[in-house]
Amino acid sequence: MMDDDWTSASAGATTLTVTVWRGGADGKYQEFRVPRRESQTVLDVVTYIQRHVDPTLAYRFACRVGMCGSCAMTVNGAPRWTCRAHVDAVAVAGRLEIGPLANLPVVRDLVADMREFFDKWARAKGRFKPSATRDDDFAKVSPQEHKRMEADAGIECIGCGVCYAACDIVKWNRDYLGPAALNRAWTLANDVRDAGSVERLIAVSGDAGCHSCHTLGSCAELCPKKLSPTRSIAGLKRATLAVALGRKEAGE
Ligand code: SF4
Ligand code: FES
Repeated sequence: MMDDDWTSASAGATTLTVTVWRGGADGKYQEFRVPRRESQTVLDVVTYIQRHVDPTLAYRFACRVGMCGSCAMTVNGAPRWTCRAHVDAVAVAGRLEIGPLANLPVVRDLVADMREFFDKWARAKGRFKPSATRDDDFAKVSPQEHKRMEADAGIECIGCGVCYAACDIVKWNRDYLGPAALNRAWTLANDVRDAGSVERLIAVSGDAGCHSCHTLGSCAELCPKKLSPTRSIAGLKRATLAVALGRKEAGE
């Protein structure tokens, strides 16, 4: 079959042309032909190559059902969770180009090094700091409470790194904490059981923090869980300003 005959995957092509990143940062794309299947995901395509064509292909996944956040890759130029990205929705003229997530170092092939992504969660103090002891009763937080609703809006993050790879501010300023860490900080800032709010707001208010966001919105557009880190960051901007004004009024 000639390349020109390969129409859109959804139009009934029997084979996909898939170019896959091989090697480290100085690697290059390698082309594969993969049989087209009904309801095929991008992760199915990568798995086919690894199992049937080249067992040395490195990639990462765990749950295959959109829960663990480990399978994100760059697909035809955009970051996506590959276990839930259907080929029908993302292939262009029967072609896929699959690479590691952008804005992160490449370990090998499709595996990005996620350390800086998670280190920034720690820098943003994205860890719950309890205000109660094990002897206290369970906290009762009504689902209708405003702060609970704010926290709920961002809590379903699976740490996939899609927003981080999509963010132009991260590309321009590698120190920037990024959408996911800031989204996490905002959920904790609204958790009434947490005792670390002031130190967290200070941690996210520096040059690398929430005020660096230009509200470009790629994070919210591409987040597979339909979260809006942009909205969370706007909340952090308001809250950090309130803390700064409070400190000024207190003469600090
Ligand atoms: Fe992934 Fe969305 Fe969480 Fe970003 S905010 S890490 S895109 S789930
Ligand atoms: Fe777990 Fe894709 S493999 S989210």
